[in-house]
Amino acid sequence: MTLPKINPLKTKSWRDLKNHFDEIKSYTISYFFDNDSDRFESFSIKFGDLLVDYSKNRINDKTLEIFEKLAEEIKLDNAIESYFGGEKINETERRAVLHTAVRSQSDETLILDGIDIIEKIKTERERVFKFTNEVISGDYLGFSGKKISTIVNVGIGGSDLGPKMVTEALKFYKNHLNIKFISNIDGDHIHSLLELLDPETTLFIIVSKSFKTQETLTNGETIKKWFIKKTNTDAISKHFVAISNNLDKTKDFGISSDKTFPMNDWVGGRFSLWSSAGITIALAIGQDNFQELLGGAQEIDYHFKTAKFRDNIPKVLALIGIWYTNFWNAETEAIVPYTEYLRSLPAYLQQSVMESNGKSINREGEKINYQTSPIIWGASGTNSQHAFFQHIHQGTKLIPVDFIGFRNSLFGNTEHQKKLLANLIGQVNALMKGKNKDEVEKELLSKKINEDEIKFLTPYKIFEGNKPSNTMIFDKVTPKNIGRLIAIYEHKIFVQGIVWNIFSYDQWGVELGKELADEILKKKNLNLSSLENYLFS
Ligand code: F6P
Repeated sequence: MTLPKINPLKTKSWRDLKNHFDEIKSYTISYFFDNDSDRFESFSIKFGDLLVDYSKNRINDKTLEIFEKLAEEIKLDNAIESYFGGEKINETERRAVLHTAVRSQSDETLILDGIDIIEKIKTERERVFKFTNEVISGDYLGFSGKKISTIVNVGIGGSDLGPKMVTEALKFYKNHLNIKFISNIDGDHIHSLLELLDPETTLFIIVSKSFKTQETLTNGETIKKWFIKKTNTDAISKHFVAISNNLDKTKDFGISSDKTFPMNDWVGGRFSLWSSAGITIALAIGQDNFQELLGGAQEIDYHFKTAKFRDNIPKVLALIGIWYTNFWNAETEAIVPYTEYLRSLPAYLQQSVMESNGKSINREGEKINYQTSPIIWGASGTNSQHAFFQHIHQGTKLIPVDFIGFRNSLFGNTEHQKKLLANLIGQVNALMKGKNKDEVEKELLSKKINEDEIKFLTPYKIFEGNKPSNTMIFDKVTPKNIGRLIAIYEHKIFVQGIVWNIFSYDQWGVELGKELADEILKKKNLNLSSLENYLFS
């Protein structure tokens, strides 16, 4: 079964949404609150200790009713079945999309090309844990008999962003291992890191599904040369680990088969952190925490497959996103986590959302005439309040925001936590309510400011309000909650791709630049002192 190929613009629901947009576009979010005392209750979802508040959006019951019909019309539930069932929904690469299977902890079988892959996944996971446990416990020794103290993850894109974001997010649960990430081909990056490393106690994890990526292979080769020179040995097999789907290439590189962990072609790079590609996470936080991470994501998988529409977090968030992108012409979405530990979440989501849904050809090979993926950006709160929030409050663009907060702090400092969350709540309310002319004038009057000055200042101090946001409040930054959070966004991406009638799991758009860079290097023998000759040729 392939994915349905339905132009959303040709559905009745899309036409209904257009009419509905005209009906409600002049109503504000505050108006909806004023006229519905149950709005918070009916436009929020409680999933265990997770609260998802989507009441601060320019939507009403009818908006959701039409979106639910749209989901039926575009056959979303059939698509979900195909996704979890291992159908080859990545049609342009003829692959299944099974990051949900690699995190599975259930005993259900999943047959792909005649083979039960769940057994295989479990065996591989056990192999990863056996190895990571040995490194963490200090049983695993480097070539000179010393314990490993530093791990360097060498990878880029999905082979870097996910492991890096999660390792940072779960820093509180980290063991003694010192974890570093190298991604960029920028030689200054790698050389400045190598200066700090002791080859006898460092383990390099080369993560590359294709094992063909220029950045990763160049960095890997540079590290290998440095290692051999520094140690005067060729003990590569003790200090290099590979995660890849290209076992010939990992062998050519010199990595022994017992240090090679396969990545399957049915796990996309940007969704691979749950698989052996997440080995750096398992090294950083240990087996139990890694299992918790998988468990949290699996809870959301089940929720996504079974919860009814209004209670279904990924479905509701996805469709609200479509509402702003396609009806309100919003071009971006800001992601603002109120914990410094999630500061890399926006960068991680930039790849997973935009590499997936930044497409303009539909599932029938035709150019489409509507918007797809928003531009994803953001930074941690409260830092971002002192950077780009001015633009969100008073700029000319409509920017829906996702606020992500945690009730409890990790170190138990409630004074800071209260201030942190008061800021989050303050922003949600300020965005929604704004401040009108009367309020501004009254405030200035109360400060005994003279009339001329009040007249001058008032327009600058008005906040239009009616700025939409979603808020997710988790209990604490735990492996389970980080697993839940990531899986919510993964399924949101899936739903949006289905509605936009695009293929979310390929990334052909990254190829041309790579090809040209290779061509420039190979054929034109790049001369660094005359770059202008290449830029204009
Ligand atoms: O930039 C494109 C891309 O293919 C991403 O999709 C992927 O995550 C990244 O490169 C790294 O690829 P690999 O794991 O094969 O080195």
